[in-house]
Amino acid sequence: MGRTLSEPLVERMRGYGTTIFAEMSALAQQTGAVNLGQGFPDTDGPNAMLEQAVDAIRGGLNQYPPGPGLPPLRQAIAAHRRARYGLTYDPDSEIYVSVGATEGISASILAVCEAGDEVIVLEPYYDSYAAALSLAGAVRRPVPLRPDKPGGRFTFDPDEMRAAVTPQTRAILLNSPHNPTGTTLTVEELQVVADIANEHDLIVITDEVYEHLTFDDVVHVPIATLPGMRERTICVSSAGKTFSVTGWKIGWICAPAGMIRAINTVKQFMTFTHSGAMQLAVAHGLAREMEWVEALRSSLQLRRDRLIDGLAAVGVTVHRPQATYFVQVDVRPLGIEDGEAFARALPHEAGVVGIPTAVFCDHPEVGRPYVRFAFCKRDDVLDEAVARLTSYAAKRH
Ligand SMILES: Cc1ncc(COP(=O)(O)O)c(C=O)c1O
Repeated sequence: MGRTLSEPLVERMRGYGTTIFAEMSALAQQTGAVNLGQGFPDTDGPNAMLEQAVDAIRGGLNQYPPGPGLPPLRQAIAAHRRARYGLTYDPDSEIYVSVGATEGISASILAVCEAGDEVIVLEPYYDSYAAALSLAGAVRRPVPLRPDKPGGRFTFDPDEMRAAVTPQTRAILLNSPHNPTGTTLTVEELQVVADIANEHDLIVITDEVYEHLTFDDVVHVPIATLPGMRERTICVSSAGKTFSVTGWKIGWICAPAGMIRAINTVKQFMTFTHSGAMQLAVAHGLAREMEWVEALRSSLQLRRDRLIDGLAAVGVTVHRPQATYFVQVDVRPLGIEDGEAFARALPHEAGVVGIPTAVFCDHPEVGRPYVRFAFCKRDDVLDEAVARLTSYAAKRH
């Protein structure tokens, strides 16, 4: 199809249209549904951190910060990574601040992937990965995550991961803790990925935005801590989820200096830099607000339990997440096979919004029966959603 003035979009971005989040949030507004779709909290981040941003603006920090990010933030990221994971990165040459993890991941892909390179992703995958790979002209090779038993934990088959590697494979894009399944990869699973990466000389790009939001004593392990992996891993994280400031869009990349130089070459022409005031506030957050984050983690775990207990009573199969903001629900016990049709009808029929997992999949059967609900919401919002779903399920019987 040719490009016209009214349809000028380049071919490689056709098919992306509006994101499912925008579509479902608009549906929530239209129908007055309770929105458990998009993953943003409805409470604020730590007060002292918010005040830091306000003070920085009032204090005149309003011009371009350096492209790689303000030194105090890069130093705070280095100190945090060292203290938490024992990983050492030089703040001057191995850490780079980005406009959220989203830009960090896109810039990394654009920096290291030629057109035609293949990138392995866990499926279902976060929607921006597919678009960033298309922008680069790279090809995604999805490896499915499936429950290890009915209602169980999602995991991948090592043989499927190995079989996904071809001579064109350039990278593995790993998301752990994983959105939308809530799986946090174990050291054994990470070792499978590391062995493949080492054997085939692949780069690993990791999306670790939920690194602090793990439950039931599950601990996030960055793959960069495994032997031989620091040198081939681009770690991406973000303040958005950790500090409940998703609108600030402060992310960061930790990687060996050569990779950071490559990413800088791309990213400097994308956004160049991002709000200094927010960067300074996030530096404060990493240094001083980790107790607040621990309290957020506990409170999220309670809200996870509140929502999954409610959903189980509705009669769907609930997959207990080990981390993140999200729970996967299998709708087949309701006599429904197609989770996507169900999720699109739900705002109208039940007054609740969830996100169909199938839209994050290339293999339709992988996501078909699942819907994702977010529990990073206030108790009263979760209770209202469960009450609506309960009366909807009662009407179906
Ligand atoms: C897995 C994953 N990666 C990245 C992002 C986006 O992070 P940021 O807002 O820092 O760009 C999200 C947000 O929902 C996410 O779930």
